Amino acid sequence: MAKIGVIAGSGFYEMEGIAVRELKKLSTPYGEPSDIYRIGELAGVEVAFLSRHGTPHQIPPHRINYRANIWGFRELGVERILSVNAVGGIRKGLSPGELLLPDQVIDMTHGRASTFYEGNEVVHIDFTMPFCDELRRALITAGRKSGLRVKKTGTYLCVNGPRLESKAEIRYFSQIGGDIVGMTVMPEACLARELELCFAGIGLVTNPAAGISAKRLTTTEVLETMKNSLERIRDLMAETVQILPEKRSCDCQGALGEARM
Ligand code: HPA
Repeated sequence: MAKIGVIAGSGFYEMEGIAVRELKKLSTPYGEPSDIYRIGELAGVEVAFLSRHGTPHQIPPHRINYRANIWGFRELGVERILSVNAVGGIRKGLSPGELLLPDQVIDMTHGRASTFYEGNEVVHIDFTMPFCDELRRALITAGRKSGLRVKKTGTYLCVNGPRLESKAEIRYFSQIGGDIVGMTVMPEACLARELELCFAGIGLVTNPAAGISAKRLTTTEVLETMKNSLERIRDLMAETVQILPEKRSCDCQGALGEARM
């Protein structure tokens, strides 16, 4: 059973260094996940990969079945999820190619199914720290060990998309503490917490956010930076999975303990 899951933009599983051994198509009580899960080995550690936007179809961020994706990981026995997200850089000094490990989130998405508890059971999970501290610390150590430049903290402001932002929106997001802006980390992070799974994000800055640079934003720029950064992200994750202790010692595994009303 794969205990580590990776969810990322398309193209990721094709990366060199990841040996895919098995394909698993799952269907969940919440519907179909974005794609088949690819079970393979990363640096000798079993990992389950999921392409967030599917293949060959591109599912836009606001239409992703986040619940099915996260539920599927749990069905595979995954306990920890690494999420790779393309983001725009808001904070000064975040240039394309930069890797940032967010420690906070501001959620501005709407209309996305963002809880598994919609029935009679009322659950309020604690989300003070949206990302697993143990997993984040492993990523930070892995970055240092492999000589990669990684920003250790930052606030991920999640928008609904699929459009990009206006200049005034980015100015506002900056004022309220957003360091990076993207469309996918929410509700992934809170759904993982509801299933008591560990979750950490790797933000890849693919472009300066709207109005930060004088240039217009293009998806070509985003995809190009993504492509050029895959190897570094793979190296970061390969080192991380080797560092992680087998047993979890974070609070994520007991997230539901005092969350039920
Ligand atoms: N805004 C929102 N989402 C993004 C961006 C951006 O500038 N870049 C990559 N994903």
